[in-house]
Amino acid sequence: MSIDLAVIPVAGHGTRLLPATKSQPKEMLPVGRKPVVQYVAEELARSGMNRLLFITGARKTAIENHFDEDGELNSFLRHSGKENELAELDFEHCDIKYFYTRQRRQLGLGHAISCAQSFVGDQSFVVALGDSIIGIHAESDIVRRMVTVQEETQADVVIAFEEVPHADVSQYGIAQPKHFSGDVFELESVVEKPDPQEAPSNLAVAARYVFRPVIFEALAKTRPGKGGEIQLTDAIERILEEGGKGIGVRLAPQEHRYDIGNFESYFRAFVEFALADPVYGQGLQTHLKARWTTG
Ligand code: G1P
Repeated sequence: MSIDLAVIPVAGHGTRLLPATKSQPKEMLPVGRKPVVQYVAEELARSGMNRLLFITGARKTAIENHFDEDGELNSFLRHSGKENELAELDFEHCDIKYFYTRQRRQLGLGHAISCAQSFVGDQSFVVALGDSIIGIHAESDIVRRMVTVQEETQADVVIAFEEVPHADVSQYGIAQPKHFSGDVFELESVVEKPDPQEAPSNLAVAARYVFRPVIFEALAKTRPGKGGEIQLTDAIERILEEGGKGIGVRLAPQEHRYDIGNFESYFRAFVEFALADPVYGQGLQTHLKARWTTG
């Protein structure tokens, strides 16, 4: 059976987005019309995932509420004749099963993924970071492409990569490809948040992964790394060092990764999505041009 399970870590505190994230999850911040995590779920559904396991934590219950069917709201809208508004809740009925488990201590992304072990069992699975949207309005099939690569190569790990400015490599997991050509390449190694002078490339891990369950054994042996956290990248590097197979897949140019982890990239994402809105985008462009030329 093809991979149909995605694990979505959403337990982080979102400290770089305070005060906006004091009492709501960063994954629930709107980008244009929808909260970030809805884009992630819709992208995964389009790529063939029909079971989503959220690794959640304190103050994250709004995510569970968002994916529940809200009978009271639905019947209010129906009885008030608000059919257009009702249609905005169509995502509630898409064919996905939602599961939730808590990361009880904040020990890093690698530790969050290890919380999925008993649910995942011995199947391969996808990991999609809940604070990252791929492509404008999440119109990306990167996960489907990665799953195909995994099934064809039987790789232990497949990772999405995006080129970033060299000065920014210290914010990401960075690839050392075996050969610097093509959109699908074998991985020699990966390193978490290297200094720019030591980075093996400017290919940054872009929030989407496919794993064979061997990742759990590697995570169990991984000690705290950068920032004192158990890093997923370090567990991947362990697999590669021990002779496992890793494949990188580049995002296409239109599949930019929108990172909703800090205000700079959140603002950029919001503005781009709002400008591309089919109803309000044109008017917003006109408004902004008028403000700029008269301001
Ligand atoms: C995490 C990963 C990093 C990756 C990034 C974006 O970092 O540890 O390897 O490049 O997500 O996918 P974070 O942004 O949580 O610090």
